[in-house]
Amino acid sequence: MKLRLLILCLLAPLAAAAQPAPRSVAAAPGRFVFSASTTLVADRALLPLADYAARYLGCGVDTDRAGDGAVALLLDTLAVASAEGYRLDVVPDRIVVRAATAGGVFNGLQQLFRLLPPEVYAGRGVAPGTGVACCRIDDAPRFAYRGMMLDLARTWIDEAALLRYIDLLAFHNINKLHLHLSDDEGWRIEIRSHPELAAVGGFRGGDSPVRPVYGKWGEKYGGYFTQEQMRRIIDYAALRNIEIIPEIDLPGHSRCIASVRPEIRCPYPPDTVSTNGYDYRSAWCVAREENYALLDDILGELCALFPSEYIHVGGDEVETSQWERCPDCRALMRRRGLADAHGLEDLFMERVAAILARHGKRPAVWNEAVKTGRIDRSTRVYGWQSVAACLDAASKGYPTVVMPGESFYFDMRQSPYEDGHDWAAIFDAQKTFAFDPAAKGFTPELLGRVVGLAGAFFSEAYISHEPEKPDYLDYMTFPRICALARIAWSGNAEGWEAYRRELIERHYPRMEAMGIRFRLFPPRMEVRDGAMHLSVDDGSELWQVEDGGEAERYRGPVDAMRSPSLRFFSRRGGARSPYVTGKAYHRTVAPEVTITTSMGESRRFPYANAERYRGLSRTARACRRGDWVLYEFASPVRCRELFLQTGNRQLPKTIVTTGRVEVSYDGRTFRPAGELEQGSVTLRPDRPVRAVRIVSTCDDNGTPYVTIQPPRIRPAL
Ligand code: ACM
Ligand code: ZN
Repeated sequence: MKLRLLILCLLAPLAAAAQPAPRSVAAAPGRFVFSASTTLVADRALLPLADYAARYLGCGVDTDRAGDGAVALLLDTLAVASAEGYRLDVVPDRIVVRAATAGGVFNGLQQLFRLLPPEVYAGRGVAPGTGVACCRIDDAPRFAYRGMMLDLARTWIDEAALLRYIDLLAFHNINKLHLHLSDDEGWRIEIRSHPELAAVGGFRGGDSPVRPVYGKWGEKYGGYFTQEQMRRIIDYAALRNIEIIPEIDLPGHSRCIASVRPEIRCPYPPDTVSTNGYDYRSAWCVAREENYALLDDILGELCALFPSEYIHVGGDEVETSQWERCPDCRALMRRRGLADAHGLEDLFMERVAAILARHGKRPAVWNEAVKTGRIDRSTRVYGWQSVAACLDAASKGYPTVVMPGESFYFDMRQSPYEDGHDWAAIFDAQKTFAFDPAAKGFTPELLGRVVGLAGAFFSEAYISHEPEKPDYLDYMTFPRICALARIAWSGNAEGWEAYRRELIERHYPRMEAMGIRFRLFPPRMEVRDGAMHLSVDDGSELWQVEDGGEAERYRGPVDAMRSPSLRFFSRRGGARSPYVTGKAYHRTVAPEVTITTSMGESRRFPYANAERYRGLSRTARACRRGDWVLYEFASPVRCRELFLQTGNRQLPKTIVTTGRVEVSYDGRTFRPAGELEQGSVTLRPDRPVRAVRIVSTCDDNGTPYVTIQPPRIRPAL
């Protein structure tokens, strides 16, 4: 993401003042010109990297170090001291990338790619005759840890998709990939001594004991990596200067392994009445000694498989009430004189840390695990809950990865009406770019404990977005990853507007060549004289779409009053913007409605909530075939759209999984109006509606109840 270097090379006298200086950039006269005979030469240890580079540059690798017009990759600890820094020299007859390590050479190589036409990323090579302005660039990253976390547990991402993603991260000088390999809903790594963990726990739904809390219910689906596959992935990433840090989330978020190995839970009778027959306990029993033998097996294999110094062992969101109900955990607390369940949490983590130490590794944990500050300072903390949590960890002396959800959780939605979560914040790349540790309270001393910055993509909402296609992952994470990569490498002193222009003009073409279906910023809308005027400044095409219709090209200003159901968006190759609409688009009405069902009513979440358009309601039990939900309006409702939702569309659980929808215009006779999709249906009635009925066509929605949301009704024009 260091495009400014190119500008500096070309326009050094002009740009040097306006652009933040990399460590050192010097333009020089002349150009290096690629020719058909340009070859790559490299130090012996860098030959695999030369092969990597050759695929993008379209050059041959010359192992005899002969040939003219060479691009050279060299290890040179005299010229470059820092571990990941590099020197890139472009002179008329050579391009030389020097660094003290292969990682530094990789970083320099990525900088070279950025000096070249974007097509290099498409693997089509550099056309003979392509010139690069001569320059010397000395550079080094701001942070040693420039990371991304991917949750493979909630949504399975296969090897090909993961390798593609590693390439994308590598192009951005991201050097750590934290893989969230286990959670309540999945176990994604083969453990040879306990093959059932992955062979059973990698798949949910159908006859699996693992409940399909998110996504599909009727079929068994999922996957896991064998150790052999994972070793390939580790090597693939390592060549690209990316270290993979595995996470097994302990002692909470463990419902999946507890479904496969129920004995790891606290030994008290499961309360399955309220959970449709399934045990929702999700924590390892701290007092069960055999658990540490099992953990030794699991972690021992991970320590042998992954070369990383740290193994992430979770520690987030532990549901400690399970320990408080457990006779053995309570007895352990008494024996050890522990005041509360946090003491048990510390004890568990100390045991896990000792296991890791025996296998030559250090623990990494989420920030909750250092709440008491009792666990060892050699633990690396990942601060996710807030900036305050990151400050707290660093203040206690822990090396800290800063990734507060409000700026770095890329599963958060990017504007209010887009898909994604909103619990941490609604933000786009601008907020990520703006993150400034100094302004957030990190003193120089605390900053010294910040090992770096990381983004995260938790994937519970991914499952409802055609996980077989990368569109949603790309859309949610790019260009937020670009902003993360930029600030983690060199900060944000240039300011947002300068960065945004650079992103659009220089980096959009690269991301297109990389095949990323990234998110464009929303088109600009101005309302003048009652008309909506749309414009873009990013080279994209404007489109408009009427609800229920086909998208067509935007032809000019649109009458705002007459077109409340029109949405606008822009496209550029595979990239697209979110929709923008006039104010009227999101206006809804709340006619008097009565909701009844065949499934009883939750006392805590009565139907009155949804009837008053205040919040969600719940049934008293799960749905079975033939169960129904009836919405009856006090008087006929004229509307252009009626959206009925069970569960939560973003997080598809507690829904009526499959069902038919019937509408009544007279309050007596019902006629078919559609099918549920992800528990929801959108109706566009051409007459005033008296009632709508959802009839379940599934048995068991996998959870203990059905959630009923207030209807969302857009008024007729
Ligand atoms: C987390 O988001 N629970 C680490
Ligand atoms: Zn217990």
